[in-house]
Amino acid sequence: MKIGIIGAGNIGGALTRLFTKVGHEVEVANSRGPKSLEALAKATGAKAQDIDAVVKDKDVIVVTIPLKNVPQIAAVVSLNAPTQAIIIDTCNYYPKQRDGRIGPIEEGLPESRWVELQLGRPVIKVFNTIYAAHLLEHGRPTGDAGRIALPLAGDDGAQKAKVVQLLDQIGFDAVDVGGIDESWRQQPGTPAYGADLDQAHLSLALAEASPARGSDWMA
Ligand SMILES: NC(=O)c1ccc[n+]([C@@H]2O[C@H](COP(=O)([O-])OP(=O)(O)OC[C@H]3O[C@@H](n4cnc5c(N)ncnc54)[C@H](OP(=O)(O)O)[C@@H]3O)[C@@H](O)[C@H]2O)c1
Repeated sequence: MKIGIIGAGNIGGALTRLFTKVGHEVEVANSRGPKSLEALAKATGAKAQDIDAVVKDKDVIVVTIPLKNVPQIAAVVSLNAPTQAIIIDTCNYYPKQRDGRIGPIEEGLPESRWVELQLGRPVIKVFNTIYAAHLLEHGRPTGDAGRIALPLAGDDGAQKAKVVQLLDQIGFDAVDVGGIDESWRQQPGTPAYGADLDQAHLSLALAEASPARGSDWMA
């Protein structure tokens, strides 16, 4: 698949490595421009691009930047991304440490619904629950006992099925959380967050989640 990754930090860098390793054609962008990504491009075979190019003609576009910066990339995504592209959102709301107050999320709007409103496109929420180092290093072959499962949420079942295949290729099982309205089950502070659970235990953790956002995760 042709995959464009917006953000080349902890998660974007790990996904660039993982997706190139299993044979996908990856282009990656950050805020400082392609020159700053030469080392990552050289190490992985991915193409460093500016953000306009990174969203063009892609099957999958991954948005993996600080949540507060999503409005900065909204025009590029809505103008240049193919309408049929799967848009993956890995972002988490960290109001105290990084993002400041985002009113609608504080009032209960799921983070990824807010992202969708900024981008004007539906998203699949996935990769937000696992530490970048674990994403890079803890993938296992299909069927391995204790293989980590990742929750994913989204309103388009066909897109989710393709993302589940992508997860399998890079070493992870999946659990379908439901639509974006249910995606609070995998947000920071929930039992699934950062827990590295297998499919059965992840399903239990998602069922136990509460929609109330804890005070650590509010501005
Ligand atoms: N770290 C984790 O373990 C982890 C786990 C799950 C989910 N997440 C979530 O995933 C997202 C990314 O996390 P991260 O840890 O990978 O972040 P990070 O290491 O801080 O990297 C952020 C990346 O986003 C780029 N960026 C920022 N604003 C941009 C813009 N306007 N246009 C293009 N690129 C831009 C940065 O580029 P420059 O460096 O050039 O500014 C950088 O490459 C966050 O929302 C985070 O909460 C993180």
